Amino acid sequence: MEKGAKIVVTGGAGFIGSHLVDRLVHDQAGEIMVYDNFSRGLESNVKQHVGNPQVQVMQADLLDYPNLEKSCAGAKYIFHLGAQSNVMGSVQDPDSSFRNNVNGTLNVLKAAQYHQVQRVVFTSSREVYGEARSLPVEETHPTGGKNHYGASKAAGEIYCQLFSGELNTPVSILRLANVYGERDYGRVIPLWIGQAVKGENLTVYGGKQEIDFIWIDIVVEALLRAAEYDVVGCPINIGSGQGTSILDLGRRIIEISGSKSKLDILPARSAEVVRFAAHNGRMRSLLNLQPPDDPLYGLYRMMAA
Ligand SMILES: NC(=O)c1ccc[n+]([C@@H]2O[C@H](COP(=O)([O-])OP(=O)(O)OC[C@H]3O[C@@H](n4cnc5c(N)ncnc54)[C@H](O)[C@@H]3O)[C@@H](O)[C@H]2O)c1
Repeated sequence: MEKGAKIVVTGGAGFIGSHLVDRLVHDQAGEIMVYDNFSRGLESNVKQHVGNPQVQVMQADLLDYPNLEKSCAGAKYIFHLGAQSNVMGSVQDPDSSFRNNVNGTLNVLKAAQYHQVQRVVFTSSREVYGEARSLPVEETHPTGGKNHYGASKAAGEIYCQLFSGELNTPVSILRLANVYGERDYGRVIPLWIGQAVKGENLTVYGGKQEIDFIWIDIVVEALLRAAEYDVVGCPINIGSGQGTSILDLGRRIIEISGSKSKLDILPARSAEVVRFAAHNGRMRSLLNLQPPDDPLYGLYRMMAA
């Protein structure tokens, strides 16, 4: 990436966005603007940058187009992570998922086009595939989604393709598998660690799920490479390539924490995809990124924190 450039990170106070901001600051990449409405992001995620003149934290909404457009003036890169970011939230409020993920993404793309931004990186999701026909899932698998969140990300991708192609605004698209790491909350790994540490039973919805977990540091590296490498308009799965059984995950967390917790199995939730593992050939060849042998290696770090 061009040193000293202005970089906008939408959703920069969220889980993945704040790790990306830390890395950009560490690399002295340029002038960073965190653009986040703090609907799910946390001040504590970015407090380490308070007083750093290279980081500006703007509390603002993607749906406020005039403000977003002004904020993108002079930007060379936009990492677009701001979104309604979970499946069950989208099922409870499909309109909010549409507004934030489709209208919000369109606004980012319009602002990027207006200011001739060099590269937008869009964080799509493995949820665009819905329930896959077979594993591992290649990027050529049909998209559509099994829930409102997946549909909203698929729609966002179509706008990214339009802007990348016809409208001369280069966009890289990463389809992230299930990312885990410190600062996340409300998703299965942080929830279960919390339950195990307290000695409570781990709440399992269903139990048949196979999930592709990918550690946050690899995802941050993928985002940076996606901004730099020649991968415009070509969706790339970012995943370990391995499906971890949800029951094995639970047992592993119990074992590492030395907890006496048990697995408490409840009925499955119909909006959730049951099995996913990413085909990560493009991630390896186009981004030159190798997944780890053990997708859950980051659990030790999370539980030591
Ligand atoms: N965490 C994962 O496993 C995962 C998997 C696939 C894709 N993704 C995608 O990666 C991105 C980051 O995910 P995350 O896990 O960090 O989620 P997150 O919820 O922690 O971060 C999203 C951030 O966007 C902000 N935001 C939401 N709506 C906004 C709006 N209208 N205007 C401004 N800010 C807004 C939230 O406050 C939050 O800080 C999201 O786009 C998400 O859909 C995440």
